[in-house]
Amino acid sequence: MQKIHAAITAVGGYVPEYILTNQELETMVDTTDEWIISRTGIKERRILKGEGKGSSDMAVEAVKRLLAKRPDVKPEDIELLICATTTPDFQFPATANVITDKAGLHNAFGYDVNAACSGFLYALNTGAQFIETGRHKKVIVVGVDKMSSILNYEDRATCIIFGDGAGAVLLEPDTEGYGIIDGVLKSDGAGRAHLHQKAGGSVKPATMETVMNKEHYVYQEGQTVFKFAVKNMADVAAQIMERNNLTSDDVAWLVPHQANKRIIDATSERMGLPEEKVMLNIQRYGNTTNGTLPLCLWDYEKQLKKGDNIVLAAFGGGFTWGATYIKWAYDGEKIGK
Ligand code: UT7
Repeated sequence: MQKIHAAITAVGGYVPEYILTNQELETMVDTTDEWIISRTGIKERRILKGEGKGSSDMAVEAVKRLLAKRPDVKPEDIELLICATTTPDFQFPATANVITDKAGLHNAFGYDVNAACSGFLYALNTGAQFIETGRHKKVIVVGVDKMSSILNYEDRATCIIFGDGAGAVLLEPDTEGYGIIDGVLKSDGAGRAHLHQKAGGSVKPATMETVMNKEHYVYQEGQTVFKFAVKNMADVAAQIMERNNLTSDDVAWLVPHQANKRIIDATSERMGLPEEKVMLNIQRYGNTTNGTLPLCLWDYEKQLKKGDNIVLAAFGGGFTWGATYIKWAYDGEKIGK
């Protein structure tokens, strides 16, 4: 019997309308457009505004745009939705449940995956297994974050980096050798000290004091995280190339997590890829955490060709990191935005 691979067969994305520019940040914290661009590559990021709006609202838009590209697939045909997020709508229930309800995916079960910036890769590889076993035929994997909900806009070291956004992919079975071919996923919990949110979980539930102490915001030791990210993201991207016998000529695209342009450059250099083969939208969206990888696929979908070898790579809080090798399953020109 032919091996079943999980192929990405459509992509949807959504970023909120409000654009927070470096110039506006200059009026909020002690920073400059020049510093932000030279240290990170970011020019602007999107922010979800509006009372009562959360990650699910962006994810629902991404899912609707994905389904609009595939009129042959009805919302009721989706069997499972996995949502990768670090900023869930609620502690519980899972944001996946909110999304399936709001998007009318009435036959889908859903759950969330939390692996910070590597969450989309974890969810993608998990979703792939449901397809590879033959048990499920239509799985949606979403990566979404409303990072603005956990940022301290008085902390120049973190608020300049992150933005809000969502992306979604549809996974379907393929027996012709296209789809997700390989994945390497890693984690090291000792890294949690350097990037986390101090309060709001069961260890330190929210109190007046935790709010006063600003413990519900992202805490990041930037330089330490940077060093681990550069090494580990490049290592794992090189590892997946080696074990699949891929040379730099064989790889059509690197889809890197958009945390810092300097980390992306280090990864592509290690892989021997020229910059034309590297997906980049950090300048427009900043770091949308779980949103970065599917938003790259969404932005570049039109340029993707059937048979393209694509390597996705990410690094994030936890620490978590990983890479995934995909043989792209369709000509994006026919379906892209
Ligand atoms: O996606 C999840 C994983 N996260 C990451 O991958 C992020 C990894 N880390 C980074 O991308 C970088 O470390 C940052 C962009 C966060 C910071 O860049 P850096 O080059 O590592 O800066 P730094 O923390 O070493 O700070 C250098 C200087 C400091 O001033 P002094 O002490 O040299 O006087 C900072 O206070 O830059 C200062 N600084 C700023 N200056 C202007 C820090 N933030 C800013 C700012 N504007 N926004």
